[in-house]
Amino acid sequence: MIGNISPKEYEQFKLFLEQACGIVLGDGKQYLMISRLTKLLRNEEIASIADLLTGIQRNMPRYLRDAVIDAMTTNETSWFRDRSPFECLDKTVFSEMDHDGKRQCRIWSSACSSGQEPYTISITISEYLESSRLSSLNNTQIVATDISASMLVEAKKADYDESILGRGLSAERKQQFFIANGDRWQVANDIKRRVSFKEQNLLSSYDSLGKFDIIFCRNVLIYFSPERKSDILNRMAKALNSRGYLFLGASETITGYSDAFEMVRSPQGVFYRLKD
Ligand SMILES: C[S@@+](CC[C@H](N)C(=O)[O-])C[C@H]1O[C@@H](n2cnc3c(N)ncnc32)[C@H](O)[C@@H]1O
Repeated sequence: MIGNISPKEYEQFKLFLEQACGIVLGDGKQYLMISRLTKLLRNEEIASIADLLTGIQRNMPRYLRDAVIDAMTTNETSWFRDRSPFECLDKTVFSEMDHDGKRQCRIWSSACSSGQEPYTISITISEYLESSRLSSLNNTQIVATDISASMLVEAKKADYDESILGRGLSAERKQQFFIANGDRWQVANDIKRRVSFKEQNLLSSYDSLGKFDIIFCRNVLIYFSPERKSDILNRMAKALNSRGYLFLGASETITGYSDAFEMVRSPQGVFYRLKD
C-alpha cells in the first residue's frame, strides 16, 4: 500500500523536507503527505512511501528529489494578491524612491509561483508610469525566483486561462495588459519584458542574484521554522540596497525574526524598510 507509513518514516520524511526546502510539516499531517505524493509514486512506479524514503537516504536522482519538493509545496497565488502591497508601491514606495534620487530599480519576487506576483508588480509599474515620469522605473528589472521548476515553466509561458485571470484581475486590466490567444490570455510584451525567471532555493546563497531595491517575500515564510525565517530575512537585508523595501504576506511578520528593518505603516498597509 502506497499510504502505509510508520511514525519513524514520517519523522524521516519531515527531516528531509525541512532540510531540502525549509518546509516544516506539522505533526499528524501524514494524510497531506500521502495525498500529495501518491500521483508521483504511481508515475515513477515506486511502490510505497517507505521505498521513496529508502531512495532519499540512498541519494535519489536530482529530478526525483525536485519532484518530491514540487509535490509538497503550496503554489496558491493570484493577481494583486491582498492589494495592499501593490497600492503601497503605487502610492508611497515609488515616489519615495524618486525622492531618494534612485536612478534604477531592481525588484526580487522571491517565491513567484506561477508568475502572478512579478507580472502584477510589472503592471503596477506600467500604471504608475502612465501618470509619472519616475526615471528609476523606466528600466526596472524584476527577478522572479522559485524553488519549483514546474511553476517556473508555467510562469515563463505567461499564458493563463479565464478562470486564473478571474482571480484578482479586473476586466479593464485584462484588456489593457493581456492579449487574447484562443481561449487563453498572453501577458503583453511590455509587462513581460521587465521580468526574468530563475530557480532559487531560499535556503541557498543569494549572492548570484545581485542587489535589490525592493524584495517581495510573500506567503512562503509561514511554512518555515523561526530559525529559517530569521536566517532568510537577515540574508535578504544584505541583498537590499540602502533604504531598500521588503514586503511580506498578510499573515507574516518580521517581529522577533530580524532587527534589520523598520516597519512602515502607510495608509495603504504595512511594509518594511532597511534601517540606515
Ligand atoms: C503560496 S506560494 C506564494 C506565491 C506568491 N508569493 C504569492 O504570495 O501569491 C509559495 C511559493 O513558495 C515556493 N517555495 C517553497 N519553498 C521554497 C524555497 N525553499 N525556496 C524558494 N521558493 C520556495 C513554492 O514553490 C511556491 O511557489
